[in-house]
Amino acid sequence: MLTETSAQTSAEAIGQLEAALGAAAVLSGSDIPARNLQDWSTLGPVQPLAVVRPADPQGVATAMAIASRHGIAVVPQGGLTGLAGGSRPITGAIALSLERLVGIEEIDPASATMTVRAGTTLEAIQQAADDAGFFFALDLGARGSCAIGGNIGTNAGGNRVIRYGMTRDMVLGLEVVLPDGTLVTSLNKMIKNNAGYDLKQLFIGSEGTLGIVTRAVLRLFPKPNCTMAALCGLATYADVLSLLGSARRWLGPTLSAFEVMWPDYWNVATRRVPGIRSPVAGEHGFYVLVESQGGHEDDRERFNAFLENQAEAAIIEDAAVAQSLADVKAFWGSRDAAAEFKLVLGPHSSFDIGLPIAGMDLYARDCRDTLAREIPGCESFFYGHIGDGNMHIIACVPGAQAQPYDAIDEIVYRLVRQYGGTVSAEHGIGLKKKKFLPYTRSAEELALMKTIKRALDPKGLLNPGKVL
Ligand code: LAC
Ligand code: ZN
Repeated sequence: MLTETSAQTSAEAIGQLEAALGAAAVLSGSDIPARNLQDWSTLGPVQPLAVVRPADPQGVATAMAIASRHGIAVVPQGGLTGLAGGSRPITGAIALSLERLVGIEEIDPASATMTVRAGTTLEAIQQAADDAGFFFALDLGARGSCAIGGNIGTNAGGNRVIRYGMTRDMVLGLEVVLPDGTLVTSLNKMIKNNAGYDLKQLFIGSEGTLGIVTRAVLRLFPKPNCTMAALCGLATYADVLSLLGSARRWLGPTLSAFEVMWPDYWNVATRRVPGIRSPVAGEHGFYVLVESQGGHEDDRERFNAFLENQAEAAIIEDAAVAQSLADVKAFWGSRDAAAEFKLVLGPHSSFDIGLPIAGMDLYARDCRDTLAREIPGCESFFYGHIGDGNMHIIACVPGAQAQPYDAIDEIVYRLVRQYGGTVSAEHGIGLKKKKFLPYTRSAEELALMKTIKRALDPKGLLNPGKVL
């Protein structure tokens, strides 16, 4: 997979990188920080040849051109919060970190756009939008650490996809460096631009295998005036589907999240994760977090009327309605508690599968039973962005010496294939799901992906061995 680069070629390339970018931009040997050796996946650390940190887009292009001339592979790195191994270094390859390419270049109020550099954290972008009286709608747990370049590279999803779409829907323009070092600047601000191929879409979600994102034009939305949330207990999955349909009809475009938690997940989150408790009384078959972001206080009345209607129709068994933003935050706490399951359960596998919404509970039951039957002691927990057809699963054998990661993967993805789903709804393929990509994509689709990869990266130097 990786080209055998002689020590002499590597030394020559590093010398040229130092000369072009300055010695401070090139770290090698023991100067490489531990944080650059791995991402947030369960895959262990790998020492790259060097970490190169250009401070501007031209520097990224120069670094890529030098690497390409010497036949050295390059792995782009952002905030390193990926869960699939996409930014994990490769032995002998350069890790190209965007950590110094940070900052917001422009906010254009008339177009409602923000032009940013790829290494900027999601949280800094959200804050800058807020300060300017706008809202940047992408949001996910790693907001304080993840970089927008990585969000774009993975087409990140997150908590508000049901209203605003995925990262793809929030990018209007893009600047990328191609595997040969060409800088393609396409910082479009227009919503409508049908002049030929929409090239940015090739790079969004390509996990750094086709180009390195250096800058982007992002779409901003009006800041919501009021945020409403309810945590509802429901008896059956049919009721969950009915509530989703009604939420869409009643709340229209203000519906901003529809998160569902199965009791296995809910009981761990609210009884075992420190600081989290259930806001709803009693035991229920399903727990649903519904959120609505309004432009006007009237939207709050509509939200309350919707909940009353659903309670009267006996779709909702019990609900807690947020009385303040602190309540909204606390409700999200039960959903974000997934990140703390490691403290309670120890090492575990986590999944981001997608399925047609109607079949999700059948899948969950089948998956839970099959895991428990085929892997003694295996426990599984189901939750996720059900309004988007995206389910998360946490699975492990608590207390086991070594987790049966491969056996768990095999069952989860075998059933995904059987139920007509996708092996990745939002985290990407990286290294971890490569083997299972054919479960979701046809031979023709995979061949076309390889054709595109070869056309853009004939030497196979950009993030080789990832995705395909
Ligand atoms: C979540 C991330 C892990 O939804 O995708 O919690
Ligand atoms: Zn998610």
